[in-house]
Amino acid sequence: MTGERAACQGGGVSVHSAVDVIRAKRDGGELSDAQIDWVVDAFTRGEVADEQMSALAMAILLRGMTRRETARWTAAMIESGSRMDFTDLPRPTVDKHSTGGVGDKITLPLAPLVAACGAAVPQLSGRGLGHTGGTLDKLEAIPGWQADLSAARMREILADPGIGAVVCAAGADLAPADKRLYALRDVTGTVESIPLIASSIMSKKIAEGTGALVLDVKVGSGAFMKRLDQARELATAMVELGLDAGVKTVALLTAMDTPLGCTAGNSLEVAESLDVLAGGGPADVVDLTLALAREMLAQAGIDGIDPADALADGRAMDQWRAMIAAQGGDPDAPLPQAAHTEIVRAPATGVLTRLDAMGVGLAAWRLGAGRARQGDPVQFGAGIEMHFKPGDPVAAGQPLLTLHTDTPEAFPAALAALDGAYAVGELGQVAAGQVILDRIGD
Ligand code: URA
Repeated sequence: MTGERAACQGGGVSVHSAVDVIRAKRDGGELSDAQIDWVVDAFTRGEVADEQMSALAMAILLRGMTRRETARWTAAMIESGSRMDFTDLPRPTVDKHSTGGVGDKITLPLAPLVAACGAAVPQLSGRGLGHTGGTLDKLEAIPGWQADLSAARMREILADPGIGAVVCAAGADLAPADKRLYALRDVTGTVESIPLIASSIMSKKIAEGTGALVLDVKVGSGAFMKRLDQARELATAMVELGLDAGVKTVALLTAMDTPLGCTAGNSLEVAESLDVLAGGGPADVVDLTLALAREMLAQAGIDGIDPADALADGRAMDQWRAMIAAQGGDPDAPLPQAAHTEIVRAPATGVLTRLDAMGVGLAAWRLGAGRARQGDPVQFGAGIEMHFKPGDPVAAGQPLLTLHTDTPEAFPAALAALDGAYAVGELGQVAAGQVILDRIGD
């Protein structure tokens, strides 16, 4: 039953109706706490119809929500499922969330590094959709590794100081209202609402039970937020939601005009993360991992420990091996490799002036590294190796990129995505390659 009659469901006559709530927001009004609680709950129970929630999402996209409305909306989405609680663990909990970027494998070295420094890292994560990869897809490239864990096993791993970090799939009971709403937003042109993005991300992170959170809000061609002012607005909204819910929260705004590191694709990114954990790896990945680790330790109240030491002396690598083994993975098993490769060569001698994140992400996705629809399989070995970063000198004919796939018929579409995504020119044409652009929070 839907529409006006839905107001009479749920064990009594409700004073609310979906149409009234939609009209109120459509006309620029501020929704009351009671209206928000009711509409999210009734939607979760199936009493507010998908088309009504879609109309409300569009009204919110066009009219916005105040800080109070956004906080209440987030609380109602958390209430739609269960909330985990790790306050009894002997170590402080802290997590990191990235809004998604190309080559963003930072969680892989970061979670064990922060655990090696004394915090517990509970991360409920998702699979990738579209041109940015998902952390679970990357970890699933490791033979044997399992994303699904019971809450009891998750707690056991977090309590073990030799492991202390867990990255696993969010259960169906974590903010179920968000899952249904996100699916509607995806097909109704309402993803881009800042209050809806902020409440969607933060409802899941708050329900996950972390005591502190560091947000990595990506800005640039390969990110959700293309402009710094939009990213700042989103970061501010998320930091406010975290603080309002009692989670210590801070955000870094970081560049996503060019891919992070030198790989995009599941196995390739695991291999690069292992280089970082072994004390090497690309400078931008190492710098961002350390910057986020320092923020996480500060938010967790852990002072006097430099995460660079834990990377250099192998403690983070030991923690990684324990973390992978705890979820059934074999840290020594060879990673899947794609059956076919194709090389893109430098068209001229000069300096690589441009390597566009969106072009590389799209090409990796077309090679099979990502999925078009939820539930599609991914190719673990597919993706792109980048042999140069913007600013590097290159000689005509040198390999710039190596494309990997099991399905060689994908090469033309991937090469088309790379058309115009890279350029070789003169040194003066390269923009400064700063990764951390701003910080929001105390
Ligand atoms: N990621 C989410 O989880 N929700 C959004 O709305 C956007 C990105």
